[in-house]
Amino acid sequence: MDIGKVVADVINTRVSVRRYLPEMITEEEIIAILEAGRRAPSGENAQPWSFIIVKSEENKKILGQLCKRGSGRHFTGEYVTRKMQERFESLTDIQKRKRVFKKLTSGDVSAFVAEAPVLIIVIGLKNVLNTPYDCSAAIENMLIMAHAMGLGGCWVNASTLDIRDEVMLKNFFEIPNEYKVISIIAFGKPRTKHKPRPRKPLEQMVYKEKYGIKYFIGGEGCE
Ligand SMILES: Cc1cc2nc3c(=O)[nH]c(=O)nc-3n(C[C@H](O)[C@H](O)[C@H](O)COP(=O)(O)O)c2cc1C
Repeated sequence: MDIGKVVADVINTRVSVRRYLPEMITEEEIIAILEAGRRAPSGENAQPWSFIIVKSEENKKILGQLCKRGSGRHFTGEYVTRKMQERFESLTDIQKRKRVFKKLTSGDVSAFVAEAPVLIIVIGLKNVLNTPYDCSAAIENMLIMAHAMGLGGCWVNASTLDIRDEVMLKNFFEIPNEYKVISIIAFGKPRTKHKPRPRKPLEQMVYKEKYGIKYFIGGEGCE
């Protein structure tokens, strides 16, 4: 077995999954996901993260509402500042465009959180310098592990974009003040198979020695 190829395949085929089968994932799978998070690198090996596993319908509903509201506010801001219109410039089908804008500005785009079998709230110690980076490394490890086991996951920041939502979330889940809420991660069995979303080619992002001199010339490094 070429382990490099296996890892590349897992990384290259991972997608954000927002629609799940209703069945619960196993305790072994949850532990494997948490183990992957725990193994992530962190500045000075501080490991500033803690994880709250949420499975109850009542608590998932609260998180779903917070995520819907957070996304709604965020995308309404994008709409009124016309960023959204710029982002979707190439979407010329008027009806489709309307549907996409509605899904985003209503916050429905993140409401799926309430339907995910398992949610993990990732929190990080505020007094650790690298907390956002450390927790992000843990989250990516968890998403990759879930995908490697045939599960789906989605990183959701919607409920932490606005400090008012973070305060509500912290109060409800009794999170001590020394922590910052980093993100909510949804996990479950994917309802459908997804194709990976497109990525910019390396040609557009890699420079030689100093910014501006392209590392890849011609088609090299392109998808
Ligand atoms: C920091 C971060 C925050 C995200 N927040 C949300 C979110 O609030 N709601 C959501 O539906 N997806 C969220 N996502 C998922 C992204 O939309 C997704 O990763 C991106 O569109 C690329 O798609 P892919 O993961 O399928 O490759 C987030 C991803 C990251 C890394």
